[in-house]
Amino acid sequence: MVKIRKQNISPSLFTFYKKPLLLHQGHMQWLFDFEGRRYLDLFAGIATVGVGHCHPKVTAAARKQLGRLWHTSNIYLHPPIHEYAEKLASLLPEPLKVVYLTNSGSEANDLAMLMARVFTRNFDIISLRGCYHGGSLYTMGPTAIGHYKQAAGSSFGCQTTMSPDVFRGPWGGSHCRDSPVQTIRKCTCSPDSCHAKNQYVEQLKDTFRTCVPKAIAGFIAEPIQGVVGAVQYPKGFLKEAYQLVRERGGVCIADEVQTGFGRTGSHFWGFQGHGVVPDIVTMAKSIGNGFPMAAVVTRAEIASALAQNLHFNTYGGNPLACTVGSAVLDAIEEDGLQKNCKEVGTYMLLEFAKLRDQFEIVGDVRGKGLLIGIEMVTDKETREPLPHEEVAEIMEDCKDMGVIVGRGGLFFQTFRVKPPMCITKEDVDFAVAVFRAAFTRHMERRAAAN
Ligand SMILES: Cc1ncc(COP(=O)(O)O)c(C=O)c1O
Repeated sequence: MVKIRKQNISPSLFTFYKKPLLLHQGHMQWLFDFEGRRYLDLFAGIATVGVGHCHPKVTAAARKQLGRLWHTSNIYLHPPIHEYAEKLASLLPEPLKVVYLTNSGSEANDLAMLMARVFTRNFDIISLRGCYHGGSLYTMGPTAIGHYKQAAGSSFGCQTTMSPDVFRGPWGGSHCRDSPVQTIRKCTCSPDSCHAKNQYVEQLKDTFRTCVPKAIAGFIAEPIQGVVGAVQYPKGFLKEAYQLVRERGGVCIADEVQTGFGRTGSHFWGFQGHGVVPDIVTMAKSIGNGFPMAAVVTRAEIASALAQNLHFNTYGGNPLACTVGSAVLDAIEEDGLQKNCKEVGTYMLLEFAKLRDQFEIVGDVRGKGLLIGIEMVTDKETREPLPHEEVAEIMEDCKDMGVIVGRGGLFFQTFRVKPPMCITKEDVDFAVAVFRAAFTRHMERRAAAN
C-alpha cells in the first residue's frame, strides 16, 4: 500500500505516525487496525464521523436506499431530497430556509462566496487569519493558514484580519472565552467588558480602513476555528464583526463545517453561541457522518439573486446522500448527541485543564462541547510552541496506548480533539490517562536530554 500510495496517490496527502495506521473497521467511537488493535478515535475522520462509525441506524437507512434508487439528478423529483431539505431547514432560524446540497465543504464555501458576490454585487470578502475554508482555488482565498495556500492567485478579492486568538494573539485574558476553561493569561477586565475583544474589533476596523472598498461582498468565519485547534474568539467579537460587515453592505457567512450538528453542545449551530444570525450558513463533515455531502443554507432573497442564472451540480442532493443526511439528523436527536457533547465535552475540558495545570508543556486547553484544542508549548512563560517533532512523539505515544488524536495549529503544535459525539465519560477517563502518560514520558525524555 505504501508503494501504491507513493506511485499513484497525490503526494500532497500526508499520513500521521511513523508507520501509518492501516485501519480496517470502525464501530461508533472505536477504530480497529488490520491486526485487530482497537483505538479510541478522538479525531473522527477530522470531526466528520459525528454520530459514530457505521452507526447502525444510518447504515441500515443507506443500505435500504442503495437497493432502491442511487441517483436521478435533480432534473426529476425524488422523495429523499425534499424530506431532507425540509428537515434540515427546520433546524435553522428564520429567514435561513433555502437549502443547496453540495459534495464537500469547499464546494459549499465556494457557493457561499459566489452568493455573497452575486447578491451584493460587491467583490471583497474578509476572513480571519487562522481559518480554513477549503482547498479549492476560490476558497483558498479566505483560507488563511500558510501551509494550505498555493501560489495560484487565489487571494484576489480576499482580505484577512487578525485572528482574535486570546491565547496566542497579542490580547487575551482570563474571562474572554465562551468555554469552561479560560486561558492562563491574566486580565483585569470586569465580566461585562473585554479589552481583547475591543482590540481585535479595532483590527477589523483597520482592515476596513486600509484594505477594501467602502462596500464589500461579505465576511466568512467559523464560529470556532477548527484546523488551527479550536481557537475561540472573545465573547461578543463575532456580533460586532457582523454589524460592521453589514454596515458596509456585506453578508455574513458562518462556516459550520466543524462546529455544526450539535458538536459545541450548547447549541445545534456554532453561530447560535455567539448570538448572531448569519445570512449564509455552510456545513459539511458531520452532516453525512463520512458520506461525501455538504450544504449551504441561505435566505430566499439571496437565493433568488443566484437564480438569475442557472446553478447546478450533478450529485448534490442525490437520493443516497439525502437518505444518509436524514438518518444522521435522526440519530443526533434520538441518541441525544448534542446533550452528550455538552456533558461529556465539559467533563473532558475540565479533565484536560487539570493536565494543563500539571504539565509545563500544556499551554492552553480550550473549546466547547466536543470541539477541543490542547495547545502545546515549550513553557507557559513564553508560550513558545512546542517543536512539532516533539508534539508528533507525544501523538505517537498516545496512538501506541490506544488513542488517536488530530493535530493542527500554525506550528502543528495543537492537539485537536473532536471525537464521534457518542463518546462517554469512561472513554474520557481512558483518554486523559493516556495523555497523562504520554506527557509524563515526554517530560522524562526532556529531563534525560538535559
Ligand atoms: C471549517 C472548514 N471549512 C471548510 C472545509 C472544507 O471542507 P472539505 O474538506 O469537505 O472540502 C473544512 C475542511 O476541513 C473545514 O474544516
